[in-house]
This record gives sequence, C-alpha cells and structure tokens, in this order.
Amino acid sequence: MTQKVSGSPFLKPFFLKTPVRVATPLQQRRHTLPASEFRNLTSQDAISVFEIEREAFVSVSGVCPLTLDEVLNFLGQCPELSLGWFEEGQLVAFIIGSGWDKERLSQKAMTQHVPDTPTVHIHVLSVHRHCRQQGKGSILLWRYLQYLRCMPGLRRALLICEDFLVPFYRKAGFKEKGPSEISVSNMQFQEMEYALGGQAYARRNSGC
Ligand SMILES: CC(C)(COP(=O)(O)OP(=O)(O)OC[C@H]1O[C@@H](n2cnc3c(N)ncnc32)[C@H](O)[C@@H]1OP(=O)(O)O)[C@@H](O)C(=O)NCCC(=O)NCCS
Repeated sequence: MTQKVSGSPFLKPFFLKTPVRVATPLQQRRHTLPASEFRNLTSQDAISVFEIEREAFVSVSGVCPLTLDEVLNFLGQCPELSLGWFEEGQLVAFIIGSGWDKERLSQKAMTQHVPDTPTVHIHVLSVHRHCRQQGKGSILLWRYLQYLRCMPGLRRALLICEDFLVPFYRKAGFKEKGPSEISVSNMQFQEMEYALGGQAYARRNSGC
C-alpha cells in the first residue's frame, strides 16, 4: 500500500539558496515546502514520470535510466520508495527507488526490486526542464532522504551517476564508492552511497 509521506511541512533543507532580494509570495511559498505537494507516485503517474525522464535524458545521452515498463514495474512493486513533487497538480520532479540486497549495485539492480532489504537503490532523480536550477532537485533529494530515514530497517541509499553529477550528490551527503561495474551504452558511472542509519538524533527531530 502506498505510504503517505509524513513530516513537517516547514522542513528546510540545509542548502537552500539564500534569496538575494525580497522574496515574492511565490518564492516564500517555495521555502515553506507544503507537505501536500509531496507524495509517493502511483502507476497513474507513470506517463508524467516518463515524459520528464525522456526529455531529461534522451536529448543528452540517448537513453533513459528507466523504460516506461520499468517505471510501471517499480511504481507497482515499491511505490513507497518513490517521491514526487507536484505543483498545482503537475509533477515537477521525482525520485524512483527500489530495494537492493548487495553491497554494490550490479546490472541486475537496474531492473529488479528486492523487498525487505536495508538498501535503497535510487534509479532516477529528475526535475522538469522548466524547473531546473531552482534548488528543486536538491530539495526533493533532501526530503526523500529524510523520508527514508523514517522508514524502519533502511540503512543506506545507493545510486550511480556520471562524473559531472558527483559534486551534486556529494553536496547532498553521498560518498563515492568508486567506479560502478554498470555500463549503459558505453557510459561509465560512479557509485555513491548515503548512510541512513545512526541518525537517532536527526530522527527524533525530523517529525518521523
Ligand atoms: C540533475 C538535476 C536532478 C538537478 O536538479 P536541479 O533542480 O536542476 O538542481 P538544483 O537547482 O537543486 O542544484 C543545482 C546544482 O546541481 C548541479 N547540476 C545540475 N545539473 C547539472 C549538470 N548538468 N552538470 C553539472 N552539475 C549540475 C550543479 O552543482 C548545480 O549547482 P550550481 O547551482 O552551483 O551550479 C536536474 O538538473 C535534472 O533533472 N537533470 C536531468 C536528469 C539528470 O541528470 N538526473 C540525475 C541523474 S539520475
């Protein structure tokens, strides 16, 4: 069953950019991050997810991290490991994850969900092209990691990314694990890990 994301609607990520001028109502709204704008994705969201994904990746690398069938598959099997950001009902950014049971990600992890494991594999984080460079990717990732911390039994999140995104994920608290064995269309990736465990203090104060 889809799990509702809980937590303070007023959580602020630690790396929100400081406004350089007096905030407009729209900007103020962005900083308050109403919880109602965030929810787990369902199979009904798959088309919107895939449209954003296709635009984000196909023009750049020619391949999508997830095909439409894989999106449907993961949203069907583990909707609780996804998170979408909706503005006025429109999906503007999303993350899709699944369970994994090995120390490192392998090719199999790209298509498989392993239930009841302490590791989440983040397949894709994507922001609609009209909404990039506004902090949304960072905010959604931060919120997703907070949310995962509140889920019992989860210890870490793993992902692979191209070299140019390593600083982005490092800023969010991920650590490099080295080159990944996974390759897609001759593209090479770095594997990165985020530790979710041992955050008792953060959990007590995060509204879980
Ligand atoms: C990568 C992505 C999720 C970042 O989201 P965003 O909302 O644009 O990012 P934010 O505004 O939160 O943060 C901006 C930071 O992201 C990094 N970044 C974003 N896109 C980047 C790119 N193409 N190359 C290098 N760094 C990039 C930069 O560090 C930037 O920092 P800066 O403002 O100091 O330059 C978004 O650009 C996107 O959807 N890209 C296409 C899909 C993708 O590549 N997803 C990640 C792999 S799964």
